[in-house]
Amino acid sequence: MTLWSGRFTESMDSTLWELSESFSFDQVLYAYDIQGSKAHAEGLARAGLVTEGELSELLRGLDSVAQEFVGGTFVRTDVDEDIHMAIERRLTEIVGEVGQKLHTARSRNDQVATTLRLFAREATTTVAQAALGLVEAFVSKGKAYSQAVLPGYTHLQRAQPVLLSHHLNAHALGLLRDVERLVDARDRLNVSPLGAGAIAGTSLPIDPAFTANLLGFDSPFINSMDAVSDRDFVAEVLFAIALLGVHLSRIGEELVLWTSQEFNFATLGDPFTTGSSMLPHKKNSDVAELARGKSGRLVGNLTSVLVMLKGLPLSYNRDLQEDKEPLFDSVRTAMLVLNSLTGAVQSLTMNSERMKSASSDDLLVAIDVAEALVAEGVPFRKAHEIAGRLVGRAVGEGVTLSQVVTSEPDFTKFGPLFAEGAALANRTSPGSAGPKTAIDQDKRLQEILSTLQSRVF
Ligand code: ARG
Repeated sequence: MTLWSGRFTESMDSTLWELSESFSFDQVLYAYDIQGSKAHAEGLARAGLVTEGELSELLRGLDSVAQEFVGGTFVRTDVDEDIHMAIERRLTEIVGEVGQKLHTARSRNDQVATTLRLFAREATTTVAQAALGLVEAFVSKGKAYSQAVLPGYTHLQRAQPVLLSHHLNAHALGLLRDVERLVDARDRLNVSPLGAGAIAGTSLPIDPAFTANLLGFDSPFINSMDAVSDRDFVAEVLFAIALLGVHLSRIGEELVLWTSQEFNFATLGDPFTTGSSMLPHKKNSDVAELARGKSGRLVGNLTSVLVMLKGLPLSYNRDLQEDKEPLFDSVRTAMLVLNSLTGAVQSLTMNSERMKSASSDDLLVAIDVAEALVAEGVPFRKAHEIAGRLVGRAVGEGVTLSQVVTSEPDFTKFGPLFAEGAALANRTSPGSAGPKTAIDQDKRLQEILSTLQSRVF
């Protein structure tokens, strides 16, 4: 007999039971549900709906149920439809009749919304912290190779030389925006639905502001129907994680490229590589491929929740139960990827020589020839055409661009543009890829990092 079976004469068909039970996946919420129930019990006592003695019984019972979950001794019975029912059933077994008072002025609709917000609040913090760990790994790798230079690519064609730290900081900044989105979502979700009841509140004298405060929410709900049907927070957290996943996939893809023999820009430490079951010589970057591949399910989880929400009438509908597995999966997946990718980035040995030789392709200086002409008053389009003609000659004659440039009397003065390191040193505009602006960039990145660090923790 379920806790709601009073109205029925026949028991539920087993196929519906299998379809509708959620204990199999929502049991991970036990600690948050118990936290919510303890606050609710306090609220009932404050409203005079349970006595102080009954309150301590309820709190003691809820703590014992929590202990059973922690110790792995909790036994699910065949009436435990979901985590909420399971905890209440067990509580009543432990404390007796007073357990039946816990659900006063409460519905599973406001209960589940409260529980899930408590979960999401902690999960956003955990994921944001892990993302900051990856940011720090990028920043310190850049510092460890502060002089290293590699070609920056557009269209995966060598474009201009850039400092390695500039490249790594670009990934770090994307991740910092992910962290900001996660904490923004956390700020917005920190509203308590507890006290909304099934849909319209209750006739009993509860105070939602009191329980909201006990649970560390910034405020109680404004509207009971919104409180029980709003899952914007799930969608927002899933979006923040999906975009984080997209960033992780782009990082993963570059690591795959960089660690290939063709690029040979970097080597992953052994603990972050895998071998082949057949080819004895292989050292594979599976960590990076999985970072790339796992992003698919993160986008999928967001999509499945948005589609589930689309067209739902107010207020609670059982469809909403489908919010949980995608959320749990995204949080778990993001943590797996972030943790191993952070280790992988820390383990990277960069091949500075190889990156340098790839970036010393002197065609990468063509833009500096054009810009030197601009400095002499030549309109940029004209300068571009002149430099393009010199590149065409070099490629056609199979010689270097500097050979062509210095062979033309009008242009010999541009010879120094081809000196080692000049192309990088000439990147001087704010936010550019050279050493002149790196200090300022590091400072700004550090400011964002510390602001977010204090917001996250
Ligand atoms: N397991 C349900 C969920 O996740 C709890 C709420 C059930 N409410 C209801 N009216 N059947 O949404």
